[in-house]
Amino acid sequence: MDQKQSKNIHIPNELQGIALRPGLEGVPVTQSAICEIDGLKGNLAYRGYPIEELASQSSFLETTYLLIWGNLPSPKQLRDFEAEIQMHRRVSFRVRDMMKCFPASGHPMDALQSSAASLGLFYSRRAIDNPQYIYDAVVRLIAKIPTMVAAFQLIRKGQDPIQPRDDLAYSANFLYMLTEREQDPLAARIFDRCLILHAEHSLNASTFSARVTASTLTDPYAVVASAVGTLAGPLHGGANEDVLTMLEEIGNPEKAGDYLDDAITNKKKIMGFGHREYRVKDPRASILEELAEELFARFGKDKMYDVATALELEAEKRLGPKGIYPNVDFYSGLVYRKLGIPRDLYTPIFAISRVAGWLAHWREQIGANRIFRPSQIYTGEQKRSWIPPEERTLPTNA
Ligand code: COA
Repeated sequence: MDQKQSKNIHIPNELQGIALRPGLEGVPVTQSAICEIDGLKGNLAYRGYPIEELASQSSFLETTYLLIWGNLPSPKQLRDFEAEIQMHRRVSFRVRDMMKCFPASGHPMDALQSSAASLGLFYSRRAIDNPQYIYDAVVRLIAKIPTMVAAFQLIRKGQDPIQPRDDLAYSANFLYMLTEREQDPLAARIFDRCLILHAEHSLNASTFSARVTASTLTDPYAVVASAVGTLAGPLHGGANEDVLTMLEEIGNPEKAGDYLDDAITNKKKIMGFGHREYRVKDPRASILEELAEELFARFGKDKMYDVATALELEAEKRLGPKGIYPNVDFYSGLVYRKLGIPRDLYTPIFAISRVAGWLAHWREQIGANRIFRPSQIYTGEQKRSWIPPEERTLPTNA
């Protein structure tokens, strides 16, 4: 939007000539060495490593270490990190009791936001210039967030949360705490790969929110809680839930074209499509599609998969010329559904993974901090005087 388009607006001298960019599209607001996206070619790399390599070769905890500390860990560093995470998986009975007071009908993202914020009460020391404090906070958050997501799932069903199992690796343990049974190793590995894919994506809305919060030098639990709240919206992480609802509404592959025509005519967004950064298919969507197929080959196909592939094909004809293709949320729900995960947990699972990226940005932000404080162009009234209530007339647009 050009400032000159707006009438009767006083633009302060220091903002003269600066174009207003709603949604900050294309505006660099920081430097970062964490993640690189080439939205025209469909390339994504964490710390210089292509996402395809990490998703096939790495583990979520190794990728987390890479994102936060910049390099792949040595075998000892990884063993120590995994052992620390394992040791801190349990959450205090006080947090569990607090979660028992949450309404069972509440959204698990709200439960997660509250419980993540509550960790700040337990670890209130703020020593963000101390590397040990940073390490401990990373370990606690990466370790406890899955436990809190699984705990709320059982609590809202009226059950007591189950304790983490020390003999299970990160993803296998989460699936065990959530579903109360040990999953097939293939399912656990595919889930771990999903976590790698969702771990980081440069300055998306929740990561930006994390950096803004971090820039006030508050504690990392507040940073993560603010990012969880931002991730919850349907234009961001919340889209993965809506994708399945949409696929079910379409119902069968033959109806995909009509659904799209109707949505486009009525200016309705197709969930799981479009991205500010990509003009081609999101590379994570391609990998998730393969993961869904791997799962279906072992455990049987989800009939919504055919609807999804038909929708992708039809959407390419209609939206491809505008650079709108499937994003990360398009196939992730189909994977999670096959793993037996309830739909409203898809976004909390996104959060379990993205906490790695948020913490990498937290560390980077506090390492070279300047508080975020952008400008605005004031478009409101000027020079009004207070008048007594009985003399007021209602404005015509009230
Ligand atoms: N379905 C249909 N049209 C879409 C679309 C979608 N999913 N995404 C973008 N568009 C269209 C818009 O209608 C708009 O068209 P117009 O210029 O003719 O008005 C144009 O593409 C630009 O869209 P806009 O919403 O301004 O892009 P953005 O960069 O601000 O938003 C998203 C990016 C991701 C928020 C947007 O693509 C979207 O809402 N997608 C659906 C939700 C989703 O899947 N979110 C998860 C993201 S990982």
